[in-house]
Amino acid sequence: MAIKWVAPSILAADFANLEQEIKAVQLAGADLIHVDVMDGHFVPNLTIGIPVVESLKKVSSLPLDVHLMIDRPERYIDGFLKAGSDYLTIHIESTDQVKQCLQKIRAYGARAGLTLRPGTPIEQLFPYLELCDLVLVMTVEPGFGGQSFMKDQVVKVEKLFEERQKRGLKYKIEVDGGITDQTISFVQSADIFVAGNYIFKNDYKTSIDKLKSL
Ligand code: DX5
Ligand code: ZN
Repeated sequence: MAIKWVAPSILAADFANLEQEIKAVQLAGADLIHVDVMDGHFVPNLTIGIPVVESLKKVSSLPLDVHLMIDRPERYIDGFLKAGSDYLTIHIESTDQVKQCLQKIRAYGARAGLTLRPGTPIEQLFPYLELCDLVLVMTVEPGFGGQSFMKDQVVKVEKLFEERQKRGLKYKIEVDGGITDQTISFVQSADIFVAGNYIFKNDYKTSIDKLKSL
């Protein structure tokens, strides 16, 4: 079986105790820390920004997987890279400089990620796949944790898997939104599984072990 990585989304963690939460999921077997950045424009919610990522970096020995849900991310990429993002993912709908953003992330030495809203066809990402270390399939509408998994997005994971083989590429496939022990079976071709509520609202180790075992 392929190696699975689990990335707890700290959106569902206790924001008053992020250091303890990160250490706890790390101890429980997490592979990455997923950080959701929202600007109140690209999505109707506001979360955290560059200074918080910088602080998280100081207390996390796991790589930070930063998911930017912000308009025109080119304005902030430098800041998020300097703050210590190991993976930095942008939305294709959020900028007309997709190529430049991905190149900039790689040039800095970080891993470049590209993602899309559920309503965006996966084929729109195909011209950029050579520039990606990570491709994220959203299985909920970006903006909030705790939503239900959208099964109609599963086909995108399959298409990315086939395209990777066909073109001999190496990007990781990540899924984000509504991932639980019930829904993970639909996205078995993915490599990285983001989960917020499923992990933070249950026993951390039990839920991470369960996701990895399924
Ligand atoms: C939604 C975020 C997700 C969210 C997932 O915009 O990108 O990372 O935190 O939360 P759950 O796993 O609770 O659906
Ligand atoms: Zn996310």
